[in-house]
Amino acid sequence: MAHSQQTAPFDYVIFGATGDLTMRKLLPALYNQLRIGHVPEEARIIGTARSSLSREDYITRAREALETFLPAQHRDEALIERFLKKIHYVTLDGTKSDHNWDELKAVLDQSPADRIRVFYYSTAPQLFEAISENLHRFGFITPQSRVVLEKPIGTDSASARAINDGVSRFFEEGQIFRIDHYLGKETVQDIIALRFANPLFSAVWSAEHIQSIQITAAETVGVEGRAAYYDTSGALRDMIQNHLLQVLSLCAMEAPADLEADTVRDAKVNVLKALRPIPEDKVASETVRAQYVKGDMNGKPVPGYLEELGEDSHTETYAVMRAYVDTPRWKDVPFYIRTAKRSTKKVSEVVVTFRKSASALFGTSAATNRLVIRLQPDEGFGLALNIKNPSAAGFELQHGTMSGKFAPADGSLIPDSYERLMLDAVRGYPALFIRRDEVEAAWAWVEPTLKTWAANKVPMAHYAAGSYGPEEARRFIATTGDAWHEDMAD
Ligand code: BG6
Repeated sequence: MAHSQQTAPFDYVIFGATGDLTMRKLLPALYNQLRIGHVPEEARIIGTARSSLSREDYITRAREALETFLPAQHRDEALIERFLKKIHYVTLDGTKSDHNWDELKAVLDQSPADRIRVFYYSTAPQLFEAISENLHRFGFITPQSRVVLEKPIGTDSASARAINDGVSRFFEEGQIFRIDHYLGKETVQDIIALRFANPLFSAVWSAEHIQSIQITAAETVGVEGRAAYYDTSGALRDMIQNHLLQVLSLCAMEAPADLEADTVRDAKVNVLKALRPIPEDKVASETVRAQYVKGDMNGKPVPGYLEELGEDSHTETYAVMRAYVDTPRWKDVPFYIRTAKRSTKKVSEVVVTFRKSASALFGTSAATNRLVIRLQPDEGFGLALNIKNPSAAGFELQHGTMSGKFAPADGSLIPDSYERLMLDAVRGYPALFIRRDEVEAAWAWVEPTLKTWAANKVPMAHYAAGSYGPEEARRFIATTGDAWHEDMAD
């Protein structure tokens, strides 16, 4: 995935510019890219939202966001001032054709006509088509334009198709960049490096040597401030359909012939299409859903999901699915995909459990080898091995661990995923974005589970806030002879 860091001048037009994502991620990401010299001086950021704000009001908010969300070592007053000068704000309801489009036109017209334009939709997906239609109506979509679509792309297959069709009426597929910020994480790309650049792993990466793979994204946060969105989504739609299935497809894909965007995306979509369907009558045995109830986080009592929400709900805050990839490489190897809010600790990781040694030399005393790829935090990997216990009188084994860090060699911080992705969209480099067929294949696989859960045909389990999850999840993974990473001895 090598590509030039050079970026041509661009205008970034953000819809939803007063929202949490813009403040927390998008503006800090562009600032950091300016800091490291990837944003050219002529570049501009044009925020739009329905809130009636002056440019000064918006810049005050942007400044506060940078001061709050930038890591201390990246904050630089002079640079913040330089960055803020690039920002414009247009009060605009992107779905209304009779709104303030003239003002947006006046701002865009200040740039040469062939300037790269990126329209970033950080809004609810139901608005994507209407915004695209208006951009088209007013002649804003030039050959050098691209559009970035934030997740979620729909809530099921039909709505995802409708959104994709709607946006495709105005943009070519090559202009559409569907974001999955997990793909922008450097550590997620490390899955490709570890698998394909190390014969040590590529030689054993199959059912012959691997017993199971677990992919976890657990968070300590609840749904504070996002309950209105989250309650219509739930853990499966919010994390599994997109981020975790992307991680799974990188873990399971066949070696691509090269690292070009479509070669890698072809390899990933082949995995998604090979996922063994979970029909509705299997959902109860192949999945677990749960909600957190009140508990303790770092010694402080925290309320349960329903208390936070203030009403009854059947939305899951914890989800596990057991997936099988029906290709010869992965014959009957379970992939456990799990996500949780209000978990004991924040961790995103891939745990590869290898089959036990067949050697008779050590009987049952040899433990399984295990590779842990820590996507965040404490980014790095650990490999559990058997070594000799030097203090034992006879020949005894003990566990040894080899570990490594993914941190940059120069001691700098790992860049936030949005930094890479926002600039890749400017460069027109789609490798780390999701192609339409990937989104739709992922929805197709999760859909029977969504329907079965929505019909309440699978019981809702419960777990205390601050715990690893429900007891049901322990019993669930044991049915295929495995245990969760936190319950393992090493
Ligand atoms: C987002 C989800 O896509 O990913 C959030 O909507 C979740 O609910 C977030 O908190 C997790 O991202 P990360 O990078 O912190 O693992």
